[in-house]
Amino acid sequence: MNSLSKVHVPLGPDAYDISIGGSIHQRLGELYPAPPGSRAALITSDNIAQLHAATVRESLCSGGWDLEMFVVADGEAAKDLAVAGDLCRRLAQSGFDRGAVIFALGGGVIGDLAGFVAAIYLRGIAFVQLPTTLLAQADAGVGGKVAVDLPEGKNLIGAFHQPDAVFIDTSVLGTLPDRYLRSGMAEVIKHAAIADEELFGFIEENMERIYARDPEALQHLLTRNCQIKVDIVIQDPRDTGVRGLLNLGHTVGHAVEAGAHWAIHHGEAVAIGMVAETRLAVELGICGEGDLERLVALLAAAGLSADTSAVDTKVATAALRRDKKIARETLRLPLMTRIGKAELFETVSIEQLEAALANAV
Ligand code: GLY
Repeated sequence: MNSLSKVHVPLGPDAYDISIGGSIHQRLGELYPAPPGSRAALITSDNIAQLHAATVRESLCSGGWDLEMFVVADGEAAKDLAVAGDLCRRLAQSGFDRGAVIFALGGGVIGDLAGFVAAIYLRGIAFVQLPTTLLAQADAGVGGKVAVDLPEGKNLIGAFHQPDAVFIDTSVLGTLPDRYLRSGMAEVIKHAAIADEELFGFIEENMERIYARDPEALQHLLTRNCQIKVDIVIQDPRDTGVRGLLNLGHTVGHAVEAGAHWAIHHGEAVAIGMVAETRLAVELGICGEGDLERLVALLAAAGLSADTSAVDTKVATAALRRDKKIARETLRLPLMTRIGKAELFETVSIEQLEAALANAV
């Protein structure tokens, strides 16, 4: 039997557990059995359905769930109000009531979309995250942020809607292409950089095992990673304060993504952003050069060396100026002060941030 670790998310009436281990999809029926008469909607995308839906369906049905599957197209375009509206209509046509549960099987797009549908359908029903990419397992699937995009920008319509449970099956990373694993590693390294030097050291020493999808290494990595994120989220579930620490690398990173017309992956952009923002922290005298070098070395070892050839500097700079955090003129920038520690700073000027972006691309 594969081992299982749990991270509890103590959010009062919204409390839930994150379960992490190998082959969890095979064990869903026993780990999350249906209350009598319960119906469930499994929302997933084409590609994930082919890889994982049969296992998940079989397991949930063995746990007594009366399950109906809803498949959307792969890709970010599915995070759309029309797609969410269509899913709500299909749930209504199938007669799903407030006791129904949505299972979100997929990467960040599916977690955000299905979670958003769960937040709005009948004013909110329960949902369970079954994240299948490292990015979603390490970040997007944990913490209750759900959203769809607008033509005007990503994640502009959304909600805070905590899942009822999260099941992280590390075995599914076996079919995840390396580029996607690298993208998730950027968020894991971010969590280590802001809060846990020990996890940072573990990644330094175990990179080969992680990329070889060693089950024990992945389980330790994700358990520590989720605990770090949970420790921050529970202090500020609605993201008005300390949760901003989780944005390390994201202010410059989002601008880089826009500058590359989203041809580079989120984690790749975050890696560029983390280096640029930490270089700024060194220039401001709040982080040591040695810590920056250690961060740069670890990102390089994870295959996340900055390749900015696809980034249009003008587009990136324009995106930075439009950034909602900056546009509000209350820039609270998280910066790493040493490996394993970050703080929020309100003293960084927009010009300094623009210079950091310009140096990075
Ligand atoms: N991804 C950052 C957060 O959940 O706040």
